[in-house]
Amino acid sequence: MSKTYHLAIVGATGAVGTELIRLLEQRGFPVDSLKLFASARSNGKILTFRGTQIPVEVLTEEGLAGVDFALFSAGASTARSFASAAAKGGATVIDNSSAFRMESDVPLVVPEINPQDAAKHRGIIANPNCTALIALMALYPLHKAFRVKRVIAASYQAVSGAGARAIAELDAQSRAHASGEEVKPEVFPHPIAFNVVPQVGNF
Ligand SMILES: NC(=O)c1ccc[n+]([C@@H]2O[C@H](COP(=O)([O-])OP(=O)(O)OC[C@H]3O[C@@H](n4cnc5c(N)ncnc54)[C@H](OP(=O)(O)O)[C@@H]3O)[C@@H](O)[C@H]2O)c1
Repeated sequence: MSKTYHLAIVGATGAVGTELIRLLEQRGFPVDSLKLFASARSNGKILTFRGTQIPVEVLTEEGLAGVDFALFSAGASTARSFASAAAKGGATVIDNSSAFRMESDVPLVVPEINPQDAAKHRGIIANPNCTALIALMALYPLHKAFRVKRVIAASYQAVSGAGARAIAELDAQSRAHASGEEVKPEVFPHPIAFNVVPQVGNF
């Protein structure tokens, strides 16, 4: 029999978490069990995986016990609070946040570039920032062929990079704008529909 795994997605209700659930389904990943975690705001919310309804649980250290792989996409502070405990409990943590990217004992892995480094992990594997990751798909072949010494880059972030609430805000504002209604910014400091805001993160 082929091996199957106990998985957890931390940040399951978010933009990345939702996509992770879809990818596990699409790729037929050998999942034995799947636990879905988010904040107290989502406690009891029902998400569907392969036709099975799974209630979202509030993240706790105990909840992560017995998990083989914990896929974290819940921001850096959640990762800092829970990833080490999950790793000590035996899980391999794959973290999408910035929490461990600069840690010397945490491999920063791009599957298309250094997949072998994933094997060097001590419980936590980090992913690069999404803009860097996508730029590297073009830069790495150039680097291999010509050796890149320096890159000057300007990035234009998608609204989706700011998470599920930001995507909902763009949708709601676009509809409001089209109907001539007032647009109320909540996630972004200014209206985002039909606009560009020259700021990412906090100054
Ligand atoms: N969006 C992208 O394109 C992208 C790409 C690569 C990496 N990332 C990184 O991935 C992480 C998540 O991004 P996102 O865009 O998916 O954000 P998001 O849509 O805002 O989702 C955040 C998720 O984290 C959960 N969460 C927040 N605080 C928590 C807590 N204290 N305990 C447990 N769960 C908590 C949220 O739960 P609730 O729903 O209950 O609030 C939600 O499920 C961030 O570190 C981000 O930088 C994002």
